Amino acid sequence: MSEKNIYPVPDHFQQAWMTDEKYQSLYRYSLEKPEEFWSYKAERFISWFRPWDSVYDGDFSKGEVSWFRGGQLNVSVNCIDRHLEQRADQVAILWEGDTQDEQKSYTYQQLHDEVCKLANTLKHLGVNRGDRVCIYMPMIPEAAFAMLACARVGAVHAVVFGGFSPHSLQDRILDCDCQVVITADEGIRGGKAISLKANVDEALQGCPDVRNVLVVKHSGGDINWVEGRDHWYHTLTAAQPAVCEPEIMEAEDPLFILYTSGSTGQPNGVLHATAGYILYTTVTFHYVFDYREGEVYWCGADVGWITGHSYMVYGPLSNGATTLMYAGLLFWPDASRIWDIVDRHQVNIAYTAPTAIRALMAKGDEYVEKYSRSSLRLLGTVGEPINPEAWQWYYNVVGNSRCPIIDTWWQTETGGIMITPMPGANALKPGSATRPFLGIRPALLDDDGNKIVGPGEGNLVICGSWPSQIRTLYGDHQRMLDTYFNHFPGYYCTGDGARRDEDGYYWITGRVDDVLNISGHRIGTAEVESALVLHRAVAEAAVVSIPDAIKGEAIYAFVTPMDDAEPSPELESELIKLTASEIGSIAKPHHIQWTKALPKTRSGKIMRRILRKIARGDTDNLGDTTTLADPSVVNHLIEHSAYCQ
Ligand code: PRX
Repeated sequence: MSEKNIYPVPDHFQQAWMTDEKYQSLYRYSLEKPEEFWSYKAERFISWFRPWDSVYDGDFSKGEVSWFRGGQLNVSVNCIDRHLEQRADQVAILWEGDTQDEQKSYTYQQLHDEVCKLANTLKHLGVNRGDRVCIYMPMIPEAAFAMLACARVGAVHAVVFGGFSPHSLQDRILDCDCQVVITADEGIRGGKAISLKANVDEALQGCPDVRNVLVVKHSGGDINWVEGRDHWYHTLTAAQPAVCEPEIMEAEDPLFILYTSGSTGQPNGVLHATAGYILYTTVTFHYVFDYREGEVYWCGADVGWITGHSYMVYGPLSNGATTLMYAGLLFWPDASRIWDIVDRHQVNIAYTAPTAIRALMAKGDEYVEKYSRSSLRLLGTVGEPINPEAWQWYYNVVGNSRCPIIDTWWQTETGGIMITPMPGANALKPGSATRPFLGIRPALLDDDGNKIVGPGEGNLVICGSWPSQIRTLYGDHQRMLDTYFNHFPGYYCTGDGARRDEDGYYWITGRVDDVLNISGHRIGTAEVESALVLHRAVAEAAVVSIPDAIKGEAIYAFVTPMDDAEPSPELESELIKLTASEIGSIAKPHHIQWTKALPKTRSGKIMRRILRKIARGDTDNLGDTTTLADPSVVNHLIEHSAYCQ
C-alpha cells in the first residue's frame, strides 16, 4: 500500500466472508459476466411475480437501458410482505421524535397494515398506477408509509425535502404534475414548528390540478383547511381495510422521481425504475453495511434526499432490517443526543454525512464519551468528501478504533452506492471512498475525453450500465442526455472529479460543474443566482463556493446592483431572506460581495474560475485573464473581496 495513513481491516471483520481476495474475484466476475452476476443477485435478493426474459437490453450511450425486461414485481411486497412469514413481529421502523420521550415502533406486520390502509386511501382518492404523488413530510414514519403505499398501488412518488420553500415545492409539483400531496400539519425540530401545511397551501395557489391533500396530524398546531381538498390522514386511513392487493408492476415501470440540483436553474427530476432500483439498493445495503440479522441501523439522512430513499427506507426494509428514523436535530437538547440514541436503541450501524461529523467534532469529545457506544459495529459516511481529520475523529473517538469507516460515494442519479469500502475486504485510507462496488466500472478522463490509465486525476465517469442507473429526467430525455451522456460520449458523466492512487483507490475531489455541495446538499449556482436577480435592486449575480469548516462548502455571491440601487447591510439581509424563501435555508449566501461588474469573456460568459479564486483569497495565480472583455474588473474584485477587508 502506497499511503502511510492506512487503517487495516478491524479484527472482528477479518472473519467476514468478504475478504479482499473474494472481493477481487467477485469484482472481476461481475465485470466479465455482468448479466450472469446480476441475474444471480436478482434471484437471491428479490421476490418476483414473474421472472424476467432478459437481464439487460439497451443503448447506454443514449441513456436508454432496460433491466430485467419481462420481470414483474412490487417494491412494497419486497420491503414488507415477503418478511411477514419470518419476522412479522420484528421491528421494521423504530422512530424517535424531537424529544427523548417521543418514541414509536412498527413491526413488519404493523408496517404492512399501515401501508395497506394508506394504499387503499390513495385508491379511494382516485390515484391510479402511474400517477404522481407529492410527499412533503417531516421525518415521521408516515413518510415511509407514503412512499411504500405509492409503490403498492403503482403510483410514482416525488418526495420534496421539508426544508424547501413553497416556491420550490410548487415548481416540483408542477413539473411532474402531481394531483395529490401528502403532508403533515407541522414538523417539529429542536422544539420549533416547521409550517409544512402552510407551505403546501401557499404552493398550491399555483397548482390548480392538485385535487387532494392528505394531512398527518403531527404537531396538532393550528392550520388552514380547504374543505373538499384537505383530508385528515388518520380519518381516511382508519376507514380503510389493512389489506391491499399490490399492483403487479413491470420491471421498468417508474418507481419514483426525486428532484436534485444540476448546473442549470431548473431542478432535475431524476426518475428511477422499479426492478433495477430495488435490486441495487437491496444488494448494496446487504454488502456495504454488512447488515446482520436483528441489528439496528440508523441513517441520519432526511427522507427528502436520495440517501433517505435508498438507505433509510428501501434498502434496509427490503433486507428485513430494523431502520431507525430520528426526527430531531443533532444538537437537541445538546450535542450528545445522537450517542444517547445509539445507546438507548443499541444502534449497530450508523450512516451520516461528514458535515454532521464535523459539527459534532467541533463540540468536543466529552459529548461522545458520556455514552458507551459499545453497540456500534460499523460507521458510514455519505454526501461529500470527508476530510481526514473528521474521518479520524469518527474512527478513533466515535468508533473507539473498532468500527470501519465506510465512505460511500454515489449520487441521486446512481440510485445506490457506487464506490465504497467493503467491510472485511478493504484496508481504509481516511478521505478515500476506496474501490468500486461489484459491477461498477469507474474511469477517469482528461478534459478531452482521453482515458487516464493507472494513477492520476480527472473527470470521474462510469463505463456501462448498472441496474439503478437514472432512466430519464422526467419529461425531458434530451436534457438528461445533455447533462450526463453527451459530455463524454459512451460514458455516464458524474460531474465529479477524482484521483486514483497506486492501489486503485478513488479519492473524490468534488464537483467539476456548477453545482455546490453545502452540508452535503446539492445546490446549483444557477438556482441561487436566479433567486438573487429576482430582487429589484439586483442587476446580475454570480455564485461560487468557499471552503467551510463545518458545511464543507459555503456560498459566496458576487452581486451587481442596479444603477439606482445602493448596497447596504439591509439590502444584503433582504437578499439572504430571498434565497431562503425562493429555495430554502440551505441556499443562503454566507458572504455577499457587491461589484460594479463581473469578469466576463468577450462572448459574455462569466469566468467562474476567477471568481472562485477571488472568493477563496487565492489570487496569486489567477490563470489566463487575457480573454476577459475588461481585465481591470479583476483587480477591483480582489480589492473588495472578503479577504482584503
Ligand atoms: O459530489 C458528490 C457528492 O455528492 C454528490 C451527489 O449528491 P446527491 O445527488 O445529493 O447525493 C448525495 C448522497 C448520495 C456527488 O456528485 N458526494 C456524495 N458522496 C460522496 C461525495 N463526495 C465525496 N465523497 C463521498 N462519499
